[in-house]
Amino acid sequence: MKILLTSLAARGHAIADALARSPQKPEIISVVPAKNPGIAALASKQFVADLMDFDTVLAIAKKVQPDFAFVAPDDPIGAGLTDALEEIGIQSVAPRKKLAQIESSKSFARELLHNHHIDASPMFRCISKSNTSDIHEYLDELEGNYVIKYDALKGGKGVKVSGEHLHSIDEGVAYAIECIEECGRVVIEEKLIGVEFSLLSFVSGEQVVDMPAVQDHKRAFEGDTGPNTGGMGTYSDSNHSLPFLSDTDLEAAKRLNQQTAQALSTECNEPFKGILYGGFIATKKGIQLIEYNARFGDPEALNILPLLESDFVDICLGIINEELSEDMVSFAKKATVCKYITPESYPESKGNSGESLTLPDTGPNARIYLGDISESDDGSLLLGGSRTAGIVGIGDSIAEAESIAQSLCEKVEGPVRFRTDIGTQAVIDKRIDLMQTVRI
Ligand code: AMP
Ligand code: GLY
Repeated sequence: MKILLTSLAARGHAIADALARSPQKPEIISVVPAKNPGIAALASKQFVADLMDFDTVLAIAKKVQPDFAFVAPDDPIGAGLTDALEEIGIQSVAPRKKLAQIESSKSFARELLHNHHIDASPMFRCISKSNTSDIHEYLDELEGNYVIKYDALKGGKGVKVSGEHLHSIDEGVAYAIECIEECGRVVIEEKLIGVEFSLLSFVSGEQVVDMPAVQDHKRAFEGDTGPNTGGMGTYSDSNHSLPFLSDTDLEAAKRLNQQTAQALSTECNEPFKGILYGGFIATKKGIQLIEYNARFGDPEALNILPLLESDFVDICLGIINEELSEDMVSFAKKATVCKYITPESYPESKGNSGESLTLPDTGPNARIYLGDISESDDGSLLLGGSRTAGIVGIGDSIAEAESIAQSLCEKVEGPVRFRTDIGTQAVIDKRIDLMQTVRI
């Protein structure tokens, strides 16, 4: 069994680790944009290539002749790497370009839900060149509580929220026009108030199997302050729900992934095969959709995949062959806390890039997944500019998992930092309190 893993960073390391644990002992051949020592240790070969350079990726795939490919990041999925691999006879765990629009186009996602009567969206409007004069009026109608979304992938930087990034109706109009000029369309929607969480599912057509729910922390600094990042850390609970969600909330999110998978198959007339990642928000009105992604999240994959007890290769084959079923997927009833180690200079600059760091050894209840790290000729680890390593603690409770992750983070030596507050009871209590206020 040969698997071509096109991926990068810590999410790629977590996927490689889950594939490598399969009793089928697959041979992993990785294609990465920059050498990753974590993936390299699990792969028989690591090719370095720009994942958007399809000619090079396809040439590697032809040479390798894998049984299947796993395409992990959003850009190559959105640009159609799955379709290109399929043309040379290789199936992927990742949706085709048309289906991946659920992530690559915010307007496609909102309109899909609307057209299929899936009631989980805030008020929204898609605006293009022909009706830019509606922008001002719509922002007024939303009484200044708006979110403006670039209608294509933009590395997590396309969404601007009133009160955070934009501070007046005029600033909103200017950003909306900038989006239209750059990508032809903009989505403007009502700003929702509540607590966000992620629910990812394995999907093969209408077969949907859910993973444990996870909560991410996007802000750079303690107490959810500072700029947004790719995600500074995450936690999940042993019951696979989250402390601020009711059973009804979790069921609603699960139902939305199910309904959306079905709507995608109907709309595109072909099955979605891959990971469907629902970014939800628990609000006064119940569970609403913030966005869908068509891939594993980073850090979410770092919490979820170490808990997978069943054979990940079987799950991948089930997705590809439309033979996925609930009984193929089992997760340990454990809680996890992931804290990302980053350079001290992150996210403002890449000032610490090239400086060395030392990582501690892990026991059975922890994982360290390597992100933007390289290895020097003498084998020492060097920082890149972005998130360095996701350190995951696994325990019977969030508190136990947090203390494992925290003590390992403290043992990392080098010019690095991490958020000590992620997964602590104080921060979780804040979410529970906010949810209680929101529900009133
Ligand atoms: P997205 O790329 O769509 O996940 O948006 C990035 C972030 O913007 C989300 O994680 C939310 O914090 C925020 N956001 C997006 N849409 C909304 C919305 N309708 N209401 C409030 N916040 C939102
Ligand atoms: N955790 C956010 C993302 O992967 O998009």
